[in-house]
Amino acid sequence: MSLDSNTRALAQQIIDQYPQSRSALLPMLHLVQAEEGYVTPEGIAFCADVLGITRAEVGAVATFYTMYKRHPTGEHLVSVCTNTLCGLLGGDKIYKALKEDLGVGHDETTADGSITLEHAECLAACDYAPVVTVNYEFFDNQSVESARELVSALRAGEKPQPTRGGRLTSFRDAERELAGVLDPALEAEKVAAEDSIEPSLRGLKLARSKNERAPQADYDSVIPPVPAKEEKK
Ligand code: FES
Repeated sequence: MSLDSNTRALAQQIIDQYPQSRSALLPMLHLVQAEEGYVTPEGIAFCADVLGITRAEVGAVATFYTMYKRHPTGEHLVSVCTNTLCGLLGGDKIYKALKEDLGVGHDETTADGSITLEHAECLAACDYAPVVTVNYEFFDNQSVESARELVSALRAGEKPQPTRGGRLTSFRDAERELAGVLDPALEAEKVAAEDSIEPSLRGLKLARSKNERAPQADYDSVIPPVPAKEEKK
């Protein structure tokens, strides 16, 4: 089983960043996906055990968000935006073409385990429509032809360079990054790649140059109780 003592050590590293251990559930589920490829029943039990909550509570969260997968995921997760703008500009055609080429539907994986395909809601990159992401890295302004070339390259074992951001990794490494426990060498590479998305990072760089940070949360503040609802007469 891949959820071994090493995973427990990584889990503890994540938990230590939060004032209450249960707050670490979202990154913990990403850690499970990094190790297992999806949220397995063992992964749900693991999260419940290390966070001191019930399996039902873990399951409720894992089934709510689409980023948590309930079936084994391929080497790469290919997400095609089919929301309004991307859909109208070609996203629907791209999804249909990839679906036919790969012989799989939404949230399904090719028999060789190389690709999991999904259609996605807005990926927050409408000005680059239609967009496709691979393991959450962006491939902007796609066409049916370019998306087909991209997927063929992935299936041939290549790692095409995303339009912006860092270099492409596997789905599991992307999950490691989302859990906050990415290999330091890959982390440094991602930070170095910031220059390729200069306009999006201008505010962040300005804040860093002025040594400004988001205010620390006041963990001791008392949250007032929710007022009781008045009975309807
Ligand atoms: S509609 Fe596709 S990124 Fe927004």
